[in-house]
Amino acid sequence: MKKDKIAIIMAAGKSEAMNSKKSKLVHKLYGKELVSRVVETAEKLECDEIITVVGEQKDQVIEVLKDRTKYVLQEEILGTGHALMQVLPDLESKSGQVIVLYGDVPIIKKETVEKLVDRNRNERESATLLTAFSDNPNGYGRIIRNEVGEIKEIVEEIDTDEQTRQIKEINSGIYCFDIEALVNTIKDIKPHENGQLYLTDVIKSMSDKGLKIGGMIVEDNTEILGVNDRVQLELLGRILRMRINTMHMLNGVTIEDSDTTYIYEDVKIGKDTVIHPNTTIKSDCVIGEDCEIGPNAYIREKCKLADKVKIGNCVEIKKTSVAYGSKVPHLSYMGDCEIGTGVNIGCGSITCNYDGANKHKTIIGDDCFVGSNTNLVAPVKVGKNVLIAAGSTITEDVPDDSLAIARERQVNKIDWNKK
Ligand code: UD1
Ligand code: MG
Repeated sequence: MKKDKIAIIMAAGKSEAMNSKKSKLVHKLYGKELVSRVVETAEKLECDEIITVVGEQKDQVIEVLKDRTKYVLQEEILGTGHALMQVLPDLESKSGQVIVLYGDVPIIKKETVEKLVDRNRNERESATLLTAFSDNPNGYGRIIRNEVGEIKEIVEEIDTDEQTRQIKEINSGIYCFDIEALVNTIKDIKPHENGQLYLTDVIKSMSDKGLKIGGMIVEDNTEILGVNDRVQLELLGRILRMRINTMHMLNGVTIEDSDTTYIYEDVKIGKDTVIHPNTTIKSDCVIGEDCEIGPNAYIREKCKLADKVKIGNCVEIKKTSVAYGSKVPHLSYMGDCEIGTGVNIGCGSITCNYDGANKHKTIIGDDCFVGSNTNLVAPVKVGKNVLIAAGSTITEDVPDDSLAIARERQVNKIDWNKK
């Protein structure tokens, strides 16, 4: 029988503490909705199927995820165990593994889940739990192990006694189950006094049946942090920022101030590039070696900077490529633009790339000198080795090796101010 790998994303719960009109799951972290991040992790794990359990504000979640997952509706929010029961029809005929992820735990690494899944398979465990040691375990389910370290059950905070409350090993809520073991056991669980069905009770039931349960301790506790309110959303942003920036710094990029440098996840940056404070670099950008960026630079999506490029103070660029050694040193906007090698773009120059309906391209050839405060009204092509006089508004293509001046002539009215 085919072994499946199915990911279930728990996304039916409420999100009151966000104090928002929107579901917390569609709030963004570094440009991606929380729940999209979790789906992305499942996609990277190459699951055969991804199923999202939706309930509260389900339309918003579905609108964001579209056909990236299958949906199962949890009509009443009766607990994590109840949520998983809604997926049983999709699991009953299958064998293999099922991974449980939370829609509001968005910065778990794919590698961590992968390890959990590998361990579950290699050790042939019925359930493998991702656990963590925390000095502040309040609010989490506690992991109960026996004398030889086997996991026996998970006790929720409200059910803890003085002794279990002291336990520092907590349940992250992320699991990998053997499908058949889960299907056979989840039917055993009974509602608690509050009417809720706890997925955690499956663990005790499995243990009572003598099934094998494993625990994998997460190395980095920040991975299992969830988002309940906007304070936690900001905290996770900070953690992600440090994670990304640290990776670039170790790869040879100088970041002067990590606190104010926002680099989106899929950005590539070459060695010995220096990033000055207050700089944002968004998705799909590729930056070469020995570049200098910032301070206060805004590199928007799909920019390509070759080696030794300078993007200086208060410059915004978007869908723009800059070839070797060229400079946009200050106060400029370059959008939908191709800049050749050895070009200098003077202070205050902008591409007028948008006519109100469409975006148009600007092409600037090699070795051009664009004088300060130039407007390039796109679509427009500036040839190679061109000099554009400061203050020009360029509306027509400029041939190679020319000087282009497009501004009013100055008139001096002599002695005018003596009158
Ligand atoms: C759960 C675990 C707890 C663990 C903690 C980690 C249970 C009973 N407890 O507690 O051991 O330490 O997570 O964060 O499982 N959800 C649904 N439908 C529901 C209820 C919840 O889809 O009916 C979803 C929520 O949207 C959320 C996730 O399941 O994504 C966890 O639910 P939450 O209510 O936060 O569980 P905790 O009480 O934190
Ligand atoms: Mg929770």
